[in-house]
Amino acid sequence: MNWMNVAHGNSFMPPQGTDVARQVDNLYSFLLIASLIACAILIGGMIYFVTKYKRQTNNDKTAYITHSHTLEFLWSFIPLVIFMGVFVWGWKIYNQMRTYPANSLEIHAYGKQWSWEFAYKSGKKSANELVVPVDQPVKLILTANDVIHSFYVPSFRIKQDAVPGRYTTLGFTAEKLGEFQVFCAEFCGGDHSKMLATIKVVPREDYEKWLKENDDALPIDQRGKKLFGLKGCVGCHSTDGSAKVGPTLVKVFGKTEALVDGSVQVDEDYLRESILKPNAKILKGFAPNVMPTFQGQLQEDELTALIEYIKTLK
Ligand code: CUA
Repeated sequence: MNWMNVAHGNSFMPPQGTDVARQVDNLYSFLLIASLIACAILIGGMIYFVTKYKRQTNNDKTAYITHSHTLEFLWSFIPLVIFMGVFVWGWKIYNQMRTYPANSLEIHAYGKQWSWEFAYKSGKKSANELVVPVDQPVKLILTANDVIHSFYVPSFRIKQDAVPGRYTTLGFTAEKLGEFQVFCAEFCGGDHSKMLATIKVVPREDYEKWLKENDDALPIDQRGKKLFGLKGCVGCHSTDGSAKVGPTLVKVFGKTEALVDGSVQVDEDYLRESILKPNAKILKGFAPNVMPTFQGQLQEDELTALIEYIKTLK
């Protein structure tokens, strides 16, 4: 995919593929124009005063000027108002970027040397091509299999590190059909610059069709359910709320649980940690050193499957 073909918008910036992109550009344009105006006033004023107050004869005396409260107040207060405005503006956009609507389509993304892999809930996987329906909020759950990578979509004005050992998230709602370039924006080794992917934004019907295309894989949560039995989780954790050696996993996702020491919000990262390092955060009322670690025994996509299965236990 040629970068120039993707950038079919104006030639100065990549096309705006999302509402957030438009807002980021507005803020950026404001900063640019405000800086230019400030620069003109400052440099222009300097040149004007240098000529206006140039000493004419050797007998000219410098006027005795102390200070002006009004001026001092204004040159502090006006920039303060502008800067606070920029802060609130940027904070609002950031908030919008980081708020995931309840109907978000969750897709798992794995960065590895040197490609991007995407896993859909249906069990479908794709490499270096992320297919999403238009006008659909998407929430990517990112991680990395080896070193730190960074998922960067210039046309959407979004970027997020993919870090080994933990999950990060990134949201967007594509509002234009077409293909958008993804770069890796974290130097990750020899072929970093070739670690490219494409986001294909398609109508919903095409997306549903694409999902079913030569896909005989189990849905992610079903695969997780199978692993839950195979790996022996089922021996200690109930999936119907009954009491077993370990805590039940029914309706735990999203809950705030009391720990022996403090509390924790159950999210993907907490589930991951509890599978790989069971002793890190023990729930109140349960004993440590009971559960064995699964470090090194689960692939990244198997961890994802287990977590997605636990998320479905309601
Ligand atoms: Cu992955 Cu650079």
